[in-house]
Amino acid sequence: MSAPHQPQPTDLRLGHIVRLLMEHATVVVSGTKIADEISSSRSEVWRLIQQLRSMGVDVAGHPATGYQLRSVPDLLLPEIVRPLVRGTIFESQVHHFYKVGSTNTAAMAAAAEGAPEGSVFLAEEQTAGRGRGANSWQSQRSTGIYCSVILRPPLPPADVLAMSLATGLAVLTAIHEIDSRVELDLKWPNDVLLNGKKICGILTEMNAEATRVRYIVIGIGINVNQASFPKDLPATSLRLATGSEWSRVELVAALLKSLDREYRQLKSDSDSKEDVLRRFAENSSWVFGKRVRIEENDSAFEGTTEGLDPRGFLQVRTPHGLQMVLSGTVRDR
Ligand code: BTN
Repeated sequence: MSAPHQPQPTDLRLGHIVRLLMEHATVVVSGTKIADEISSSRSEVWRLIQQLRSMGVDVAGHPATGYQLRSVPDLLLPEIVRPLVRGTIFESQVHHFYKVGSTNTAAMAAAAEGAPEGSVFLAEEQTAGRGRGANSWQSQRSTGIYCSVILRPPLPPADVLAMSLATGLAVLTAIHEIDSRVELDLKWPNDVLLNGKKICGILTEMNAEATRVRYIVIGIGINVNQASFPKDLPATSLRLATGSEWSRVELVAALLKSLDREYRQLKSDSDSKEDVLRRFAENSSWVFGKRVRIEENDSAFEGTTEGLDPRGFLQVRTPHGLQMVLSGTVRDR
């Protein structure tokens, strides 16, 4: 039995009910049929339906009449996401939380316990979403995508940066598959910007020996349907930028598929790291000729960006020569 304070994954029966109602979208499904399908009682079905309603799923009906979906829910439930990512490394281990501290923390803990490569952790809401450094990540319920994946790449730790850069490219590809008009800009190492504001952040964490990665967790936060942000936060959402609601289900499926492609390529082909760096630079206004201020630990320096080095680190020309940015924050000057 798990410890009482551990976040509990979403009851799998919820996804089962949603799938059943989606399969019979035009008819009312009786409480008895649902109860039989999920091997529970009719009163338990009623309780679960109420839980789905509290998650924003629009279900009509009650125990006496049966139940019917009024609209297709945009919830990242495994039953909904899994069929959309068939054929990828992510198809068999999709975990969902209604509410969790951080999907990255949950994924790191699961990886330490031996969870397989391709495990995906999705949440409707994070109460302690983490960003790079000591930053937090705003994670209100069902407005954004909060997703972490476990990879166990047969790569040296030095290649993890390339995988992290490739994740930015995967986000860009996924968004463009849905709407190619959205103008995105990659900011080294891991931000995706829209109109100069942040639309996605990526947090890559790893457990490694000097020459071998045991596992990495890539956490991706995408601002999808947020209607506003605090004034002091330079962030935007796809909805704010395009004026219409986006399907998080469609976007997360596109994301996992493009991430799968990037990962397979990076593992299989010795030239693919170079290719990732080239494509990153092509899709970024920050890699060449940008006046920047770099804040690293307690110091800062300024200069003009001069490309990525062969490992993927950003190079900046300063009055004292070419400096490499290892982990700092890059700001516009
Ligand atoms: C950053 O830009 O600083 C990185 C933000 C990463 C946020 C995502 S949301 C899903 C995953 N879980 C977390 O706690 N963080 C990442």
